[in-house]
Amino acid sequence: MNKYKNFLHCDLKGRNILITGASGNLGTEYAKFLSYLGANLILTDINISKLKENFKGKVNVKLFKLDVSNYKDWQKLYLKLKSNKIFVDTLINNAGYTNHSKKENFSKDFFKLDEKSINEVFKVNVFGVLYGCKIFGKDMCLKKKGVIINIASMYALQSPKHHLYKNTNISAPITYAASKSSVISITKYLGTLMAAKKVRVNSICPGGIQDKTHKKLWLKRFGDNNPSGRMGETSELLNTIIYLINEKSSYNNGSNIIIDGGWSAW
Ligand SMILES: NC(=O)c1ccc[n+]([C@@H]2O[C@H](COP(=O)([O-])OP(=O)(O)OC[C@H]3O[C@@H](n4cnc5c(N)ncnc54)[C@H](O)[C@@H]3O)[C@@H](O)[C@H]2O)c1
Repeated sequence: MNKYKNFLHCDLKGRNILITGASGNLGTEYAKFLSYLGANLILTDINISKLKENFKGKVNVKLFKLDVSNYKDWQKLYLKLKSNKIFVDTLINNAGYTNHSKKENFSKDFFKLDEKSINEVFKVNVFGVLYGCKIFGKDMCLKKKGVIINIASMYALQSPKHHLYKNTNISAPITYAASKSSVISITKYLGTLMAAKKVRVNSICPGGIQDKTHKKLWLKRFGDNNPSGRMGETSELLNTIIYLINEKSSYNNGSNIIIDGGWSAW
């Protein structure tokens, strides 16, 4: 936990933060970090067992199964929290259909993509974000208080370099890139719509973040194509998360912050 020590001045006591996809690689890190700073957390994921494995019994943490692509799931969660008088003041739309998801459909060649594979990715990456913003953004607007952070990707802004993926175990399909571009569009639309209600909606575009599934060949290729010479670390996203949550960032709205080691500048 020492790595979070430098952020102790960012006290989050009394804040109620909902994170989607909280059992994933980045979601777990966000949750541990924000919990360390004293926030009350509402952690959700479609994979509830992994969520329980990581967070069961932790103080100030509530766990819920939520399929972000299912509107009714969102409604049920909203009503449950409302009946417990919990107002979500911060929503981090982090869940994503990624390389770690159902791989077979995700990795399909563009010309082999069928309707189901296309829909699956958009339902999670786009509809999931829209539903969350709609259901929890409404109360934020009514209370004139709230922060929404949508997690996009560097591929929302730029095409992947297709040749880098050859003979690797990962892929960057068009559905991922196009759905993440929509996340930025949703962010701009809602940031401008909600600004007058004192609700801030911003997005983040992380570059490639290293995890244990990445192999040597990929790490070398990625590093050679990034001014920083490497993939990012999960901890390198935290400063931006806390920056956007912080009320002092009151003039940040409808913006997108790129954290990619310089990838998009080259
Ligand atoms: N890791 C990276 O390099 C990177 C880079 C750019 C953007 N991102 C984005 O950051 C977010 C988190 O990425 P990650 O690396 O932790 O991915 P991950 O695959 O480890 O985590 C994603 C989480 O979302 C959950 N999820 C998937 N479908 C869901 C659904 N229908 N409902 C609810 N939860 C669902 C998964 O169970 C998983 O826990 C994603 O939106 C991803 O696109 C990641």
